[in-house]
Amino acid sequence: MEYNQSEFLIETVVPQNELIISRTDLKGAITYVNDTFADISGYEIDELIGHSHNIIRHPDMPKRVFKELWEKLQKYGKWEGVVKNLRKDKGFYWVYANISGVYKDEKLVEYKSIRTPVDYETKLKYQKLYDEYRNIDKDSIRRVIYS
Ligand SMILES: Cc1cc2nc3c(=O)[nH]c(=O)nc-3n(C[C@H](O)[C@H](O)[C@H](O)COP(=O)(O)O)c2cc1C
Repeated sequence: MEYNQSEFLIETVVPQNELIISRTDLKGAITYVNDTFADISGYEIDELIGHSHNIIRHPDMPKRVFKELWEKLQKYGKWEGVVKNLRKDKGFYWVYANISGVYKDEKLVEYKSIRTPVDYETKLKYQKLYDEYRNIDKDSIRRVIYS
């Protein structure tokens, strides 16, 4: 089924007092999520573990943001920024994500992301900015597969 704009309009508001946490392997496959992550994304924990983190990628997110994310992670071991995520039910939620390395015996073994809420002005600002990026870069419209 094709991308249907109206399906994307319902926002889930991220609570102020909870952190949304996930960890991935070095390629971005999810290895851990907390209960809040599952609640906010609308998935069961089992549906997320082992899946690429792009399972919650929202079609409004420009490619260049994730390109920068992975470049910064590889170069500096961390990245932070504003992300619009896609829920299982095709709704969305905005987060401020702080991603950094997980080290074991000083060796990088995983990445972790800790997310906090974003205020209304910031959401507006980033929605406009990301719309511009997608236009400038001519990102193809991503079609969401309904299953
Ligand atoms: C620890 C960690 C957390 C991530 N969290 C998200 C996220 O919340 N939403 C998202 O769309 N991508 C997230 N990503 C980036 C994805 O791995 C992926 O690069 C992105 O969704 C774009 O998909 P693509 O690389 O298949 O184009 C995260 C990556 C890492 C390493």
